[in-house]
Amino acid sequence: MSERIEDIAQAMVAPGKGILAADESTGTIKKRFDSIKTESTADSRRDYREMLFRASDAMKNHISGVILYDETLRQKAKDGTPLAEVIKASGSIAGIKVDTGAKALAGPTAKIETVTEGLDGLRERLAEYHKLGARFAKWRGVIAIADGYPTWNCIKANAHGLARYAALCQEAGIVPIVEPEVLMDGEYSKHDIDKCDEVTRAVLNAVFNELYEANVKLEGIVLKPNMVIAGQKCPKQASAQEVAEKTIACLRASVPGAVPGIAFLSGGQSDEAATEHLSLMNAVGNLPWAVTFSYGRALQAAALKAWGGKSENVAAGQRAFSHRAKMNGMAALGKWQKGLEKAA
Ligand code: 13P
Repeated sequence: MSERIEDIAQAMVAPGKGILAADESTGTIKKRFDSIKTESTADSRRDYREMLFRASDAMKNHISGVILYDETLRQKAKDGTPLAEVIKASGSIAGIKVDTGAKALAGPTAKIETVTEGLDGLRERLAEYHKLGARFAKWRGVIAIADGYPTWNCIKANAHGLARYAALCQEAGIVPIVEPEVLMDGEYSKHDIDKCDEVTRAVLNAVFNELYEANVKLEGIVLKPNMVIAGQKCPKQASAQEVAEKTIACLRASVPGAVPGIAFLSGGQSDEAATEHLSLMNAVGNLPWAVTFSYGRALQAAALKAWGGKSENVAAGQRAFSHRAKMNGMAALGKWQKGLEKAA
């Protein structure tokens, strides 16, 4: 495969394919395992992720890349093959989460706002990750909406971090996934869809401004935004059609056409809602960028449940994962329909 970042970025958003976000930190994966009453150990995390990466139908046909956590990039499958090699053998690309988390933003808004850290030593870490086989990376900036929030200070700090990270990635021959997430869930999620639209536009404009100032080549990034959607605690939820239309209008106004692809996070949407929204967006057609998925929860929830931490359920877990991957692959082509869910 070509090592040019423009070619890697194109491959990440190839037609009908999207990205599996399997980069849960040790704390987050423990919470997921708690929900299926399974102990989180290095081996159980390896077994679970190996199950996904060996679901060959899903991986070959619908998953262009997998975002890994540091531990997983260093782990070997049960037969001794590095997990990064298992991913590569299926024709998919290994990626790595490189931020070290969202930390309280110093100052009076610290209870609500965060800034994502991880720039110290990042150049050296990227060089090592490249040697370990990673060809793209992820960094997530987090913006919460609440009464009077976000502040410009929070937007600016997160946009600046994303741009400095993206420039370092490209220097290392690694495609940066640029992920500014305006939250739809959590404690402060009462906002309506129009507030999400307004904040997402401000955030994307700040991010592209910073990317420009940092000399980041837009042809060699993948943008991973939230959809434009009401907060989970908002009593007035928008229809799927409205989410799709407002998201596309927001992105058209804010994302340059030089960006090869947009791969959404699921952010707390149900599996089927995340798929339906993506399909409706692609059904609009004539978009300047590829529009696909980079889901964590919405790709894994069913597989995690079907597996339940038991080796005898590996085939069932793989079936559940393959189904969601296929549904989202169809959505990336604008061809998903509700009836396809039942056919499984
Ligand atoms: P969700 O799809 O579960 O939001 O996760 C995607 C992701 O990578 C968040 O950083």
